[in-house]
Amino acid sequence: MTMRFSAVLALLAFSSCLKSSTAADKPHIIFIVADDLGWNDVGWINPDIQTPTLDRLARDGVILNSSYVQPLCSPSRNCFMSGKFPYHTGLQDKVVFIEQPKYMPADLITIPQRLKTLGYDTHMVGKWHLGFCNWKYTPTYRGFDTFMGYYAGMEDYFTHVRDEVADYYGYDFRNMTDVYKDVQGEYSTYVFVKRAIDIIMNHDKSKPMYLYLPFQAVHGPLQVPAKYSDRYSHIHDLNRMVYSGMVSALDDAVYNITTVLENLGFMDNLLLVFTTDNGGPPSHGANNWPLRGGKATLWEGGTRGAGFVYSKTLLKKRGYTHPGMFHAVDWYPTLLDIAGGDSSQLDIDGMSQVDMILNGGSSVRNEFVYNIYDDHYAAALRWGDLKLMVGDISHAGWIPPAGSDIDIPEMDNSPLPSVMLFNISADPTEHHDISKDNPILVNFLLQMLALKNGTRVPAMDPPSDPRSNPVNFNGAWSPGWC
Ligand SMILES: *[C@@H]1O[C@H](CO)[C@@H](O)[C@H](O)[C@H]1NC(C)=O
Ligand SMILES: *[C@@H]1O[C@H](CO)[C@@H](O)[C@H](O)[C@H]1NC(C)=O
Ligand SMILES: *[C@@H]1O[C@H](CO)[C@@H](O)[C@H](O)[C@H]1NC(C)=O
Ligand SMILES: *[C@@H]1O[C@H](CO)[C@@H](O)[C@H](O)[C@H]1NC(C)=O
Ligand SMILES: *[C@@H]1O[C@H](CO)[C@@H](O)[C@H](O)[C@H]1NC(C)=O
Repeated sequence: MTMRFSAVLALLAFSSCLKSSTAADKPHIIFIVADDLGWNDVGWINPDIQTPTLDRLARDGVILNSSYVQPLCSPSRNCFMSGKFPYHTGLQDKVVFIEQPKYMPADLITIPQRLKTLGYDTHMVGKWHLGFCNWKYTPTYRGFDTFMGYYAGMEDYFTHVRDEVADYYGYDFRNMTDVYKDVQGEYSTYVFVKRAIDIIMNHDKSKPMYLYLPFQAVHGPLQVPAKYSDRYSHIHDLNRMVYSGMVSALDDAVYNITTVLENLGFMDNLLLVFTTDNGGPPSHGANNWPLRGGKATLWEGGTRGAGFVYSKTLLKKRGYTHPGMFHAVDWYPTLLDIAGGDSSQLDIDGMSQVDMILNGGSSVRNEFVYNIYDDHYAAALRWGDLKLMVGDISHAGWIPPAGSDIDIPEMDNSPLPSVMLFNISADPTEHHDISKDNPILVNFLLQMLALKNGTRVPAMDPPSDPRSNPVNFNGAWSPGWC
């Protein structure tokens, strides 16, 4: 940190002391999402990954050991934003592809919209991926006072250009609603850190702040400044080396942001959530060992997310691992209630887990739907220890981190049964299908799944729309074609 910057911090820290008597009693909330971060890609689980800041916050906070997410980006973000399972919002199949007129339905009230009614300033920095074909689906029309970031699912970390779709090629980076070119050439993790720090330094502390910070990291393409990947020069697998560096850059980002929060006195009344959006993709350097499967699958490796909560003052119990069942939809009511709202009458799937998160109480959740697909016959359901999987389940196995000397038996490639049952408490790595021994339980769970399936809404799976082509919008991916 430069001298000038520390001087500014010291000055601000001083002025914030003077103002502290008027500080709002509602906590500031920072919700950090890592993209495609695998179960085995964080230092508190795998010491080969260097994430000293995340490790410290996790170990001083509450590590969530059964925190479930959806297998893919858009569906999980839908959970964070709406408190509803994607099979109840039409987002259960795949992601929002950039050229597709697909979005989180406009009638859903988002968490920032709710927090705004409670007096929060709401900011978003990072990846949206919940649709942008019309302005009404974009962050600044969905509860965020400010937005800096990108609308779609992936792009180059430096050029901020997304160019994979057929002949379409375009820039995807905005400040508020304007195309923002000043950051061309700058690594997105740096851009987002600067923007987050800017928001924090300019925040009027008489109001509570909600900062939603979904990083581009550590999704592909695998790109990182060399100073981070150099830390892993001993790893010979290039993907794993770069990916690990990207995780360390993300850790550094959280260090830089939390240092400012600390120096400006925000930590005295702040809740920080850190979660992945889905399991890691092993083909892109990620790892979910020892869990089975990865991103885009219903196996635990795709859905059991690395995550924790941290607060210096709000957690009555901290410094431990909570085994309780938690789902991405639970953040919505939990944060709303912590912010002084009332989630009890809302038409959502999320359950308020305030007691679990703040007091170390038991989880109030005993079941959830991993997903019910519409575009093919496949679903998974959790009920207590048990996990039912039906239909066309992808044939995923167990993948040790690249370069490890863990020996795994040859994968059995015979077709999977169309109904499987696992006891996740006894068998978290899903090695033993116990469906044959438990026909009564299987029948019971199939009926439960049929009831859930009866409440699903049809998936939104529109074809690509050529009107999305950035040539129609001065070279930028832009709203205005649905
Ligand atoms: C977290 O869950 C895993 C898998 O069930 C288990 O092996 C591990 O012991 C748990 N960690 C803690 C600290 O309870
Ligand atoms: C972002 O846009 C807002 C509103 O147009 C403007 O006030 C602000 O200065 C812009 N920020 C940057 C970093 O350009
Ligand atoms: C964090 O701040 C340090 C010191 O200013 C800087 O060298 C580093 O690049 C920053 N990292 C990120 C990810 O912002
Ligand atoms: C859900 O119900 C539909 C009929 O409404 C059916 O086509 C589909 O196969 C069911 N899915 C599952 C996973 O049971
Ligand atoms: C699942 O495993 C747990 C923990 O080992 C055990 O207590 C429970 O009885 C098992 N349930 C079934 C249906 O096998």
